[in-house]
Amino acid sequence: MTSQTLREARKYEEALEQRIQADERPAFHLSARAGWMNDPNGFSWYQGQYHMFYQYHPYDSHWGPMHWGHAVSKDLLHWEYLPAALAPDAPYDKDGCFSGSAIELADGRQLLMYTGVVKEQQKNGEFLEVQTQCLAVGNGVDYEKYEKNPVLDEKDLQKGFSRFDFRDPKIWKKADGTYGCVIGNRPADGSGQVLLFQSPDGFHWSYVKVLCANNSRFGMMWECPDFFTLDGHQVLLTSPQDMLPQGFEYHNGNGTLCLIGDYEEKTDTFTAQHSQSIDYGIDFYAPQTVLSLDGRRIMIGWMQNWDTCGLRTSEHPLWYGQMSLPRELSVKNGRLYQNPVRELHSLRGAGVSYKQVPVTGTVHLEGIKGRRIDLELLIRPGEGERLYRKFAVRFAQDETYYTSLSFRPEESVLKIDRKFSGSRRAIIHQRRCLVNHTNGCLKLRLILDRFSVEVFVNDGEQVMTATMYTPKEADGISFLADGAVCMDVVNYELIER
Ligand code: FRU
Repeated sequence: MTSQTLREARKYEEALEQRIQADERPAFHLSARAGWMNDPNGFSWYQGQYHMFYQYHPYDSHWGPMHWGHAVSKDLLHWEYLPAALAPDAPYDKDGCFSGSAIELADGRQLLMYTGVVKEQQKNGEFLEVQTQCLAVGNGVDYEKYEKNPVLDEKDLQKGFSRFDFRDPKIWKKADGTYGCVIGNRPADGSGQVLLFQSPDGFHWSYVKVLCANNSRFGMMWECPDFFTLDGHQVLLTSPQDMLPQGFEYHNGNGTLCLIGDYEEKTDTFTAQHSQSIDYGIDFYAPQTVLSLDGRRIMIGWMQNWDTCGLRTSEHPLWYGQMSLPRELSVKNGRLYQNPVRELHSLRGAGVSYKQVPVTGTVHLEGIKGRRIDLELLIRPGEGERLYRKFAVRFAQDETYYTSLSFRPEESVLKIDRKFSGSRRAIIHQRRCLVNHTNGCLKLRLILDRFSVEVFVNDGEQVMTATMYTPKEADGISFLADGAVCMDVVNYELIER
């Protein structure tokens, strides 16, 4: 039975969606159907299509009582909205249906596992959110909450484990048909940890162990964990809160973390050997992955960050929040690599390409522009082969605005800068990362989709993501060099088909 709260949300989102023009949204990135969107939830393959749910507050362009929005796609680029899947309408989730995941049950139904939130007044008068894990079962459109919710609560937690920070279950099916699940939690030391749970049927869950403890190495609380095998390695993704910076690898505040290591299944022992950021840009958080039918591990993140999502507050838009491009993951040389899903090639129009363009000072090239583009650049030292001091590409540009990506080979620093992208807020607008290059040779691929840029460096070795809400008409591109650069460039318009 659909509750009154869910019925109202469905009616509201349907009406508000009508008022949003298609070209006021990204073309092939999923955005909120109406109102506010944060984390991707329940990213799964079910009944012939990908399902993406998301943290959702349809009534406002700011975060509020969390619902689950819902969309489906066959190619991860064209999304169709379905009615909101969950509303905070039960006693155990009345203050929010927080993040979670989805899986197909043996009987063909789809299982959603999410965090139910209830505010509880403490002795000092303060309200804290008690978080438990809950289930809903459905047919891909309508979901019934499980009568025995919550299925995991404080009784399942060890001494010292916080019942106020216990959220974001990610489930998977094991080879023997049983289920595993990782959940973020805060232990007594106040930092973060990922807990492992198991279930024979998806409904009865039991605690296994602490899969990985933060010990305050990477921020504090770990949100939205994901755990999977990739190219013979075991990968743990998580989004730590309250990070301190470490060189150019990690930045302050909400960050992303990828741990790569080994997993011994018999004892459920995960040993991490390598750690890195998932995305080195400004707007990327809480990613979740799915395994495609053809065996690709595909990741989508929320293409915003809690610390920078004030960017659009002065405008009161009808929607706020986008998902990143779906990215194919792999492990190479012990690092996480990400590339746009190969389906993106099907959106490419005819390319405009130039080879060996000398860049000194500022260069504009006929046919190289646009706000829905796939732009490939290969740069190396120009004439005399002396190392240049700086190369930059400016995009989403007009007389007033531009966003830029610049590279200083002597420092190996690549910088994304959206300071001149129309923001009137004193928030972070630049971020730097260290990249690999040989004598100033660097490969870059920039994907723009009206309000965002995703920069793939050296065939996916690193990614920098940022949103920009500059007027769409600002579609110019220019290249700049201090010193002499030689550049190959191909620009594909990405067509809405
Ligand atoms: C991460 C997060 C999750 C939580 C959700 C609430 O962005 O804080 O931990 O489930 O957002 O909307």
